[in-house]
Amino acid sequence: MNNQDKNYEQLLEGPLRGLEPLEQEIFCNRLALFGEDVERPLRLLYGDRPDFETWRDHFLMIIARNYAERPSELRMLDMDRLAEDDWFQLPDMIGYVCYTERFAGDLPGVGEKIDYLKELGVTYLHLMPLLKPRPGANDGGYAVMDYRQVRDDLGTMDDLAALAKSLRENDISLCIDLVCNHTAKEHAWARQAMAGDADFQDYYLMFKDRELPDRYEQTVREIFPEFKSGSFTYYEEIDRWVWTTFNEFQWDLNYANPAVFGEMLDIMLYLANQGVEVLRLDAVAFMWKRLGTDCENQPEAHYILQAFRALSRVAAPGLLLKAEAIVPPPQLVPYLGQGEATNKECEVAYHNVFMVMLWSSLAEGKVALMTHALQKMPPIPSRTSWLTYVRCHDDIGWAVTEEDAAAVGLNGFLHRSFLSDFYSGRFPGTHARGATFQFNPRTNDRRISGSCASLAGLEKALGGEEVDRQAVDLAIRRILLIHSMILAFGGIPLLYMGDEIGLLNDYSYEEDPNLAADNRWIHRPFMDWQKAGERRDETRISGRIFQGLQGLIRARKDIFAYHAQAGAYPVWTHNEHIFGLIRESPRGRVLILGNFSDQSQTAPAYRLLELGFGGQLLDLVDGRLIPGWQDLRFEPYDFYWLRVN
Ligand code: GLC
Repeated sequence: MNNQDKNYEQLLEGPLRGLEPLEQEIFCNRLALFGEDVERPLRLLYGDRPDFETWRDHFLMIIARNYAERPSELRMLDMDRLAEDDWFQLPDMIGYVCYTERFAGDLPGVGEKIDYLKELGVTYLHLMPLLKPRPGANDGGYAVMDYRQVRDDLGTMDDLAALAKSLRENDISLCIDLVCNHTAKEHAWARQAMAGDADFQDYYLMFKDRELPDRYEQTVREIFPEFKSGSFTYYEEIDRWVWTTFNEFQWDLNYANPAVFGEMLDIMLYLANQGVEVLRLDAVAFMWKRLGTDCENQPEAHYILQAFRALSRVAAPGLLLKAEAIVPPPQLVPYLGQGEATNKECEVAYHNVFMVMLWSSLAEGKVALMTHALQKMPPIPSRTSWLTYVRCHDDIGWAVTEEDAAAVGLNGFLHRSFLSDFYSGRFPGTHARGATFQFNPRTNDRRISGSCASLAGLEKALGGEEVDRQAVDLAIRRILLIHSMILAFGGIPLLYMGDEIGLLNDYSYEEDPNLAADNRWIHRPFMDWQKAGERRDETRISGRIFQGLQGLIRARKDIFAYHAQAGAYPVWTHNEHIFGLIRESPRGRVLILGNFSDQSQTAPAYRLLELGFGGQLLDLVDGRLIPGWQDLRFEPYDFYWLRVN
């Protein structure tokens, strides 16, 4: 009997015992199919250990057990997903991101808002962290003390499963966060570590003295320099320095310990079995540490994700993994898999570079940096997809590399400083109203908080003694322009709650002692259902934005060239204010154009012709016919989605 057969036997006699022969067969087939994908990253991670095989068998037991426990409804979903494996790449995918309590009170409340989501065209709902956090300050829920329980005030795990089911019945896939880089220091593992249990101390990264921490700190970046200095925290009770990349109460997990990998794998599949279809894997760039490096984006962080992916594919192939890696372009693309791991890492990842470039272009009124930076980004594997977005719950960090800036005649440092000044409201004449987040005096790095509408100029336009109508109009145009870009770029566009009705910065967080220190709460408002009630009234600001977005979403769903597998090529338009992007698939080509300046512009007809868009053109946004033989005129922040008619 070879090893493989022995494995199967153990599984069949163990966790798979109670299943029908066909169900057992399906599992074993998948294991054979993905066997190599499971083995390769696991060997790279843990292959040097003498007990490697014991651990590998332990992981197989975990997936077999979770497979056996998977509700039949979800097994059917797995079949559907395997049959239509580009389901998340289709142009009808539209994401929406919100905090359960701020959107609808609690989980059952979200169920009552499904009609609203459907009206907007949503097919994917990301509910912000909702697993049981530590009491008190918890970094917006990113400090979890129990991954198998829901936050008390939001409901129970059964409520979550029930919501996932009703969403699914309405063709909406549920996404939740899995905070896999760290736990709250109140998590049961951390408590045992704190009580002196050596096994659990090995779940985290703990040091007896400052020798190694000092050496690590020479090269790691400080993520929250305003919250605490350094990446380690000393605990007298255990006389240890603990690795805390983020806040003091968030302890980084030690993935060099295979027990940690196994625990997280088990949690992952447990959540998938509740009906969660997408897991947003938080802070994945930090999952592996290596002396002498910045301890981000290490090869092992990728192997961990590849192993999660391969193992979860066997137990729950319907599950998608989404990487949250907010890192510069060269480090970002590999999270979607490259080389041997092409199509074998995360299926989706945030396109933070595109997001940053949209805001950069609006501030500058020019698109050279965006065009260049996007042109340089390598294509992504065919079975993966970007998540495009204009805002999320986090700050905006100016991911502009020195090389990209220099290539278009800018100085990277000065440009990043300009953007921070512009969006914090300091730059003379700026339309933006944001706030500086995490000023780092050592590097002069300043990130930005602020809601989409406030950063786009709406807050300032409404804030004077009299409403500045022209400024309001420009702000709405900016909001629609950048959304038109994320809807056309390719991948799953994510709408961030409240942006669809132009919600402004919310300063009420300053009164809550658990939130006051973190100004990212400025752009995590409570849903304004009164404003949302005006969404069909185009004489209202909220109505104009909502209707505008809804129209774009409807148009997008019918454009096959917006499938994530279709190519996306940024092009020079011969006008430095007008961004151009070609989406290309065997089923058609679309030219997306957007004027990022507050002045009227034209795109020269000869350039449209060169790009293959001569003759009569059809604007897919509103069905208008456009003569491609004339220069194309743009009002401030106008955009087009053009097809040759
Ligand atoms: C991610 C989250 C962010 C959080 C951090 C630590 O970056 O998006 O909100 O502060 O991880 O968990």
